[in-house]
Amino acid sequence: MRILIINGSPRKGNTWRLTEKVKERIEGLDNTVRFEEIHLSERNIPFCTGCSVCFRKGHIFCPHNQYIQPIMDKIADCDGVIFAVSCFQGAVPALTKNFTDHLAFLIHRPRYFDKKALIISTTGGVSADSVTQSLANTLPGWGFNKCYQLPIIALSWNDYKPSEKHIKKAYKISKAFYMDLKSGKLHSPKIGVLIPFNLFQTMCEEYAPGTEYETQDGVFWKQYAGMKYAPGIPLPIHKKVVGKLICQVGKHLSPRMLVTYKK
Ligand SMILES: Cc1cc2nc3c(=O)[nH]c(=O)nc-3n(C[C@H](O)[C@H](O)[C@H](O)COP(=O)(O)O)c2cc1C
Repeated sequence: MRILIINGSPRKGNTWRLTEKVKERIEGLDNTVRFEEIHLSERNIPFCTGCSVCFRKGHIFCPHNQYIQPIMDKIADCDGVIFAVSCFQGAVPALTKNFTDHLAFLIHRPRYFDKKALIISTTGGVSADSVTQSLANTLPGWGFNKCYQLPIIALSWNDYKPSEKHIKKAYKISKAFYMDLKSGKLHSPKIGVLIPFNLFQTMCEEYAPGTEYETQDGVFWKQYAGMKYAPGIPLPIHKKVVGKLICQVGKHLSPRMLVTYKK
């Protein structure tokens, strides 16, 4: 089993110390697990300029693809991802935001359907849960199958030593995350995840190759034509019906909501 750890904090501080406890616990459960670390602070990723080339032409044309693609490949190659993200002003640090901005196109063209995540955050006093929740809202849109969260109030600027209670909590979540990875079980997506999947799939018809405002969406969705969610992911009948309804809404909205751009 391979677990990728993405450190989205500018340093190895409180959140990293807690992440090491999580790593320790998983290693204790299974010493064959292989960890790989990416520290975003070492990658020097330039700020997303908002050029929208990723949405329109494809992410491989992003001016920063040389920084982003290797991380995307690592995510694709692992079984699970641990995100270690400190709480800055009630939100993720700029490093993480910049990284997720570069991947915002994934809500239009999701992948990573068999990946699961554990999101860890520490805060001085408040909002660690807002940080983990905001990533847990983003990742399913990229395709992530399940997100576990470990938000912790450290009451510390840089001298956090995880208490017995915090270690117990970290161990419990780590075990649940590890067991889920080990099971290989894929979970049925929440209804909210069906909205972008079915909406973008239907609306992309207006952006198919050869149309006035062709985008990469028009190419991407061909592989999922008629599917209400990605193949191999369990989808009970009532969610298929919901998917169908969303497609109908998409078909209705599509001609009225054509997104134009300057060529
Ligand atoms: C720039 C900055 C912003 C912060 N914002 C908050 C905040 O909004 N709420 C809070 O309770 N603590 C805040 N803190 C404290 C950190 O969340 C806390 O020390 C956290 O454990 C830091 O994690 P790290 O050591 O992994 O970076 C902030 C600290 C910094 C440096």
